[in-house]
Amino acid sequence: MTAEASHADSGHAAKDHTAEPALLEVRDFQVELITDAGIIRAVDSVNFSIHRGETVTIIGESGSGKSTTAMGILRLLPDDLAVLSGTVLIDGVDVVAAPKAIDKVRGRTVALIPQDPMTALSPVHSIGSQLSEAIRIAGAASKEKDAVRARAIRLLEQVHIPTPEVQLKKYPHQLSGGMLQRVLIAIALASEPQLLVADEPTSALDVTVQAGILDLLLELQEQRGIGILMITHDLGVARLISDRIHVMKDGSFVESGDVQQVVEQPATEYTRNLLAAVPVLGPWDETPAGNTSQSASMTAAASDAALTSTGVQND
Ligand SMILES: Nc1ncnc2c1ncn2[C@@H]1O[C@H](COP(=O)(O)OP(=O)(O)OP(=O)(O)O)[C@@H](O)[C@H]1O
Ligand SMILES: [Mg+2]
Repeated sequence: MTAEASHADSGHAAKDHTAEPALLEVRDFQVELITDAGIIRAVDSVNFSIHRGETVTIIGESGSGKSTTAMGILRLLPDDLAVLSGTVLIDGVDVVAAPKAIDKVRGRTVALIPQDPMTALSPVHSIGSQLSEAIRIAGAASKEKDAVRARAIRLLEQVHIPTPEVQLKKYPHQLSGGMLQRVLIAIALASEPQLLVADEPTSALDVTVQAGILDLLLELQEQRGIGILMITHDLGVARLISDRIHVMKDGSFVESGDVQQVVEQPATEYTRNLLAAVPVLGPWDETPAGNTSQSASMTAAASDAALTSTGVQND
């Protein structure tokens, strides 16, 4: 056996793409919202970057500015109501300096997984027609009907939707929340994006389904090296999937760091409170349900079991 056969660089080291230019580089980014009550600085000088294969999470309480950050980066806020400043480079293109540049990257380099699967799809169009529309807009494949259908089936297979031919004919109300969220991910993947922005993609779903969706995102990341910007208020979710975490409060990052560092040694009271809000795993209790004082640890245990069973590692 030669020296080249060494196992030294097997394992997770392949994830380091930080020598390459960032997929997303955000510098001194600010968003002011013009409201009836006056101007609100909803995002105040935030800085972060995401490279290939990385998951970066913004976590914070409700109203802290997470969605405004995500929507501002994707330029989905109305120009007359939101004033952006700073620099947002998406694959090197500054979408703050040149607002029209977003049309070249949104739905191509970067795609959004919206929050609520129940309302994000049109109720009067079939899954097949909505997915086909996304495939045609993405423009990557042939627009010929059979080619679009084949691509739609392949995308549904990729997000592990069983019997895709059958599901294509269905309407959103005929699918479960978890299946709809998978459809939204398939739609986001239609353009083969390098970066996914996911604003609370699992908060409308129950714990087991949530675990399946997170597992799917991690699998896609592993296979395709996509970067993910994850928005959540759930530190349990953040801990499972992030490389780095930025903790947001009143429009600013109050703490940033590697996931382990932030979770194990939170530097601020605010982060400690977010951590305290996550149910703590207690010893497994076989006592039958009915004892309400057990419910938090039971939920955490069930969640943990679900995550483990779908292959998501807890460290
Ligand atoms: N359309 C709007 N009109 C007025 N104020 C708004 C509007 N949208 C957001 N804001 C304000 O901007 C700030 C940031 O809101 P944002 O929705 O970004 O918070 P968030 O962290 O995503 O919260 P959540 O966890 O509830 O989704 C809040 O103070 C909010 O009240
Ligand atoms: Mg939000």
